[in-house]
Amino acid sequence: MKLIFATGNLHKLQEAGEILGPGFELSSPAEFGLTEDIPETGNTLEANSLQKASYIHERLGRDCFADDSGLEVDALGGAPGVFTARYAAGDARFTDNLDKLLYELRDVPMEKRTARFRAVVTLIIGKEVKQFEGVLEGRIGTERKGNGGFGYDPIFIPNEIPDHVGNDGGGVGNDGGKLVPNAKGIANAELPEGGKNAISHRGQSMRAMAEYLRSIGKE
Ligand code: IMP
Repeated sequence: MKLIFATGNLHKLQEAGEILGPGFELSSPAEFGLTEDIPETGNTLEANSLQKASYIHERLGRDCFADDSGLEVDALGGAPGVFTARYAAGDARFTDNLDKLLYELRDVPMEKRTARFRAVVTLIIGKEVKQFEGVLEGRIGTERKGNGGFGYDPIFIPNEIPDHVGNDGGGVGNDGGKLVPNAKGIANAELPEGGKNAISHRGQSMRAMAEYLRSIGKE
């Protein structure tokens, strides 16, 4: 099935391709000549995700989906939440956002650094609009670790990781198999790509979307 992923974030596009697998042919809005920033002015992930998907659907008239994701840190009352991409400033780079979060949590002990990534995917096919959610629970570490992933991945420590990763650090498939407690405190950015996708908020929400599409015979 052909779908446009309403994002300008190439990391997200790459992850989505790996998560959805060969049954789906993904393209970016840029491939259809739409290179402007897609507006996201809502107050919730649901609203922003719908806004991004609608923006692309209205302009290109093709089946598409968008995701909006955010990091909720309990010690900060759920911030940065919907402002995750713009935490340090309107045009903040990932590294500024990450530094600001580490600074804000500088006096918070490990047991109180609980946090979660949340993702909401909005799918628009024909006239139908559907949303799918994914949540990844974890903690915010005290220093950067690993080179994989993007954004806050070097300081996000998931509560559970795929079994294989804990044992030999090798690659894992999309389903990840059994999950085990993350006893060594491995950061998202230290997981192999398949390992992150197996547990991530985006992985969960996009697999739910793929399952739905298959259930209506759309793959
Ligand atoms: P948006 O969904 O594009 O509005 O951006 C949400 C922001 O959350 C991103 O810019 C990243 O900073 C962060 N984020 C979302 N998903 C992830 C992830 O899987 N790892 C690390 N950071 C993420």
